Amino acid sequence: MDGERDGATGLASEADKGAVRFERVSKRFGGIAALHEISLVIQPGEFMTLLGPSGCGKTTLLNLIAGFFSPDGGEIRIGGERVNDVPTYKREVGMMFQNYALFPHMTVAANIGYGLKARRVARSEIERRLREVLALVRLVGYDDRKPRELSGGQQQRVALARALVINPKVLLLDEPFSALDKNLRASMQVELREIQRKLGVTTVFVTHDQSEALSLSDRLAVMSEGRIRQLGTPQDIYRRPCERFVASFVGDANVLRGRIAGIDGARAIVTLGAAQIAVPAEPLRGAAASASVDLFVRPEQLRLTGPGESCAGNGTIVAQIYQGGHVDVYVECAELSPSRLLARLSGPQALRGWPLGARVGVAVSADEAIAFTA
Ligand SMILES: Nc1ncnc2c1ncn2[C@@H]1O[C@H](COP(=O)(O)OP(=O)(O)O)[C@@H](O)[C@H]1O
Ligand SMILES: [Mg+2]
Repeated sequence: MDGERDGATGLASEADKGAVRFERVSKRFGGIAALHEISLVIQPGEFMTLLGPSGCGKTTLLNLIAGFFSPDGGEIRIGGERVNDVPTYKREVGMMFQNYALFPHMTVAANIGYGLKARRVARSEIERRLREVLALVRLVGYDDRKPRELSGGQQQRVALARALVINPKVLLLDEPFSALDKNLRASMQVELREIQRKLGVTTVFVTHDQSEALSLSDRLAVMSEGRIRQLGTPQDIYRRPCERFVASFVGDANVLRGRIAGIDGARAIVTLGAAQIAVPAEPLRGAAASASVDLFVRPEQLRLTGPGESCAGNGTIVAQIYQGGHVDVYVECAELSPSRLLARLSGPQALRGWPLGARVGVAVSADEAIAFTA
């Protein structure tokens, strides 16, 4: 959006521009510890998502970056500069918050230009940036509309333009699409990610929606009760959750009853019914020999087998739900789990191959399960 970002020299001299660094940052509200000694480094240009249930501290963390709150302990840096005592208007952060509505009586142009005017940017410069940002969010020609004359998606794009027009070091987004219907939400997600990549702006995105977090982020931080439970790429988090909370909060999981058969370096072998399953040993560190474990298996990693094929246990198909691209098949298998198991099958045979009431074998794909002590 701004010429400085395009040239190689501009980038080099600003290499650290968007980095956000939290060092043992804590925040309390009265008796409640909203954040406990959070340490987190966000790289310049990175799209970082904070994911977690309501009340886990996501908005508080965002407010600390924005400067709406100051931390009770620890240090916050933006672009290398310590900002603990720097007021919001000097932090150069762009914000799009849930309850950060457009001014209804102002035109699109006035809404977007508001922050620049407040910063006493020259009128000709405001005009130039307005042209750029309207093109970026595909709203050329909408300058004179009022918010009520726009669709929901267009209003969202105005809010995004307003956050971007100040050329922020960091873009902060707090559940920006949670009020939109599914289709609009999906198209706004794609659009946001394209714009973010084009500008290379460091972005911190808050959501409680795991599929949104998995699809958008370079990395995500899974939070609960004021702490970061795991930080990693979407694939890391989905395939190698480090603890039970992360495994059950992100993605669907079947929980099967197993027992440790042995641990050899980085791998552990778990007995599951008639099968032996290899899992990462790390989450089982310190567990007693032959301890009971809960084996977490994603629905697409649970396989159904026919008579005579090897499997961990036998069960009965109790439900089949056609989902278009795949079929969700539910299996009762008391010897492996007290709950119904979910297998997610693709391909045209999935519906015909596993009819209701059929007896099936249940097997787990190699190297795709994670065990935690029960
Ligand atoms: N301004 C505030 N005053 C008092 N308590 C607050 C305030 N903001 C947040 N909290 C509390 O801090 C915790 C974290 O809240 P928040 O960061 O809003 O969570 P999230 O955005 O993940 O839903 C909650 O227990 C919430 O009630
Ligand atoms: Mg919140």
